[in-house]
Amino acid sequence: MNKGIRIWNKAIKIIPGGNGLLSKRPHRYLPNLWPTYFKKSKGLNIWDLNNKKYIDFCQMGVGTCILGYANKFVDTAVKKAVNSGVNSSLNSIEEYILAKKFLKYNKFADQIKFARGGGEAMSIAVRLARAQSGKNIIAFSGYHGWADWYIAANLKKKNTLDEYLVSDVDPSGIPKNLKNSIIPIGYNNNKDLKKLNGKNIAAFVIEGSRYEYPSKSFLKEIQKICKKKDICLIVDEITSGWRETIGGIYKKFNLKPDIVVFGKAIGNGYAISSILGKKKYMQYANKTFISSTAWTEKVGFAAGNATIDFIIKNKVYLHIPKIGKMITNGWNKIAKDYGIKMGFSEVMPLCTFFLNYANKDELYTFFTKEMLKKGYLANNSVWLSYAHKEKDVKKYLKACEKVFIKMKDFINNKKNYKKIEVRYYSLHKPKKKQKSIY
Ligand SMILES: Cc1ncc(COP(=O)(O)O)c(C=O)c1O
Repeated sequence: MNKGIRIWNKAIKIIPGGNGLLSKRPHRYLPNLWPTYFKKSKGLNIWDLNNKKYIDFCQMGVGTCILGYANKFVDTAVKKAVNSGVNSSLNSIEEYILAKKFLKYNKFADQIKFARGGGEAMSIAVRLARAQSGKNIIAFSGYHGWADWYIAANLKKKNTLDEYLVSDVDPSGIPKNLKNSIIPIGYNNNKDLKKLNGKNIAAFVIEGSRYEYPSKSFLKEIQKICKKKDICLIVDEITSGWRETIGGIYKKFNLKPDIVVFGKAIGNGYAISSILGKKKYMQYANKTFISSTAWTEKVGFAAGNATIDFIIKNKVYLHIPKIGKMITNGWNKIAKDYGIKMGFSEVMPLCTFFLNYANKDELYTFFTKEMLKKGYLANNSVWLSYAHKEKDVKKYLKACEKVFIKMKDFINNKKNYKKIEVRYYSLHKPKKKQKSIY
């Protein structure tokens, strides 16, 4: 057992869940073998507690480090902010500079608010829509974080959210009277949309994209309903933002949002999130109470300004999809060459392969285990960054090819291999065999 796992087993006794983010828990990758903790990160590299170096073709800080780890340009701006004091009784000018920058590149919006996490930014967006409309109900079709307004979806049927990325979410602690306050809409499911009665709906919340893009007809229908019933259209771009356009995916689809929420990537790992929208909604931030001490600290704004400047100057939004395509083409070639049943995500910045086997979680675990031996942090998804260059992809694909050849042998001759503890994506170890999240 490695040092990281040994510490993790102690950590879960004093930190419920072991940490603050499900996506960094080792059981989602390689139970009992995942390095789990890091000492240092730079570019694509991560050093674990034993100083062993890994190349990250996996989570990149769960989508935060869009420029690569410890990006010099961003870190220099942050150090400057630190050296001049990150907090005071007065405001930091960096907030205003960042506000102007976001509004310049997201012309639909008149005003902006900042927070730190994605989930809290989504709560602000939903609050504004409810405050403006005086209505309660939120319709949604993606993953939107941990807050009550969203987890309430599991009150009526306990596994509603299984369809939206994280399964096995218990709604305990969520007020029961929120039961009818939220309506799930299947992603790209026009039939679900037809069932919607606009009455009492304050907002429609959609994800910019996850593994697939929204279909034209889905967006058209949502836009039509929102316009007709005066429903606030909130596009959650916490995962999709800034990776393919200067701003959100909504630009790519010519979607007309009322509010857009960004998080994750906009600070290259430093905590910053933003809620941009039309004045019609945003002005309610003066009426309803939205305020938090940590939202005014300087580092997040300094990191945000530098990250956005770097993205624009270096056209990061062109690099990332290109690299994703290169990886996907490489996986596809390997799958064809060796007869591996595999499908692929449509969205390139979070390029993903899906194995088409009954024991796919076992195979994903096998992939992670074998790639780890070759010095890669890897699973079936890669969050791409500006630090992923063509030469890195070529090396990675060579490692993948060797592992897929071995996987083929594992599929055919499993008895020759040691048993592995299979990864699980849900919050808790599933009692029954896990239903695929994809
Ligand atoms: C689309 C989307 N919305 C909301 C969230 C929640 O953001 P955070 O984890 O920063 O609270 C996430 C996080 O993965 C996300 O991908």
